[in-house]
Amino acid sequence: MPTSFDVESSAGRYLVEIVPGLFERTLAEPGERVFIADAFLADAFRDAGLDAITIEADEHAKSLDRMTEVIVALRERRATRGTELVAVGGGVVQDVAAFAASVYMRGVAWTYVPTTLLSMTDSCIGGKSSINVGRYKNIVGTIHPPRAVLVDPALTLTLSAEQKAAGLCEAAKICLCRGPEVFDRYLALQPSVDADADRLAAIIDESLRAKKWFIEVDEFDRAERLLLNFGHTFGHALEAASGFAVSHGIAVGLGMNAALHLGELMGRDYGRAPQVARFRRHIAELVGTVDGLAAALSLVTVRALLYAFGSDKKHARDRFAVILVTEDGGVERSFLPRDDASAELIGRAYRCMLDEHLAAPAAAPALAAE
Ligand SMILES: NC(=O)c1ccc[n+]([C@@H]2O[C@H](COP(=O)([O-])OP(=O)(O)OC[C@H]3O[C@@H](n4cnc5c(N)ncnc54)[C@H](O)[C@@H]3O)[C@@H](O)[C@H]2O)c1
Ligand SMILES: [Zn+2]
Repeated sequence: MPTSFDVESSAGRYLVEIVPGLFERTLAEPGERVFIADAFLADAFRDAGLDAITIEADEHAKSLDRMTEVIVALRERRATRGTELVAVGGGVVQDVAAFAASVYMRGVAWTYVPTTLLSMTDSCIGGKSSINVGRYKNIVGTIHPPRAVLVDPALTLTLSAEQKAAGLCEAAKICLCRGPEVFDRYLALQPSVDADADRLAAIIDESLRAKKWFIEVDEFDRAERLLLNFGHTFGHALEAASGFAVSHGIAVGLGMNAALHLGELMGRDYGRAPQVARFRRHIAELVGTVDGLAAALSLVTVRALLYAFGSDKKHARDRFAVILVTEDGGVERSFLPRDDASAELIGRAYRCMLDEHLAAPAAAPALAAE
């Protein structure tokens, strides 16, 4: 069912619509616009007679070095301060377009059509852009909210199971962070990689309304919004240590698992919060659908994870900052001193997570032909 709501931001209020067919509608609209689109949609833009800037969405595409090409391409398409940028793609295209929109001629308006489930459930609202510099992921960025977010659930039809699992890991995170009632409502929608576009639309709606609360009370990431980094410090390190073989959303799912292990190693008992067990089961089911995950994890060392974990920008110089689950099933920001004892605990938490997923039973072999 089509839904819509507003998000309040420092740059004004913007509309979020979740309506099948929005992508086609956007292509047909008139106006002074330049499209920045994921390369997988190049044919759709060509067929519509639109000269889009296309981007092969990988981690290199969202590097500071590559921003030069995008800015030059905007200038060559004669974009002015009055031109609207329209981004169509997943989180990589979003980061590139949002960053370009925030700096091109000191800032132009932009609209976003997310195409991955991760960008639909999570990143499409909030206005953040995050760009990689050298080997440091997401180290520079801006907050430049879009003019509108147009979610077309029909775009999920071409996503792989892994991409759906990644988006659901982020949606589960947001809903758990918002509280047990919201998380139970999310689970009642039966989120799974087999969900059809209607079910996914309802999940996207639940997740974005939960995220709306965080970004409206704390747009600039000073308190409540930081909780949405749950799983991210552990997860970013896993992305880096696996050479990005483990994708962002799946790494966040595994990162949340590692954070739960860290809580337990620190003596926390989650037995009294039933939603924690439900959350763990759900995340295990989602990441369990990813082909080749055990093989990718078998190449990752705890040493590489600890090195990448230590270089995360969310830490202070003298202490590690992590989001942990509390004994009543909430989430909180916690600090550990930057010393050998903390590194040992964090390493053990990673080890528990790796062992759990390396030991996961492989999919049943296909039946031999009679
Ligand atoms: N700025 C933010 O707030 C924010 C939040 C979360 C994540 N991110 C960033 O987003 C990136 C991950 O983004 P993502 O997971 O959305 O994917 P992505 O942009 O990395 O794209 C992944 C792959 O999916 C393909 N794809 C995109 N839409 C498709 C569709 N509808 N059908 C088939 N294939 C499709 C792309 O071509 C690409 O190959 C990471 O770099 C992460 O750091 C940013
Ligand atoms: Zn994320």
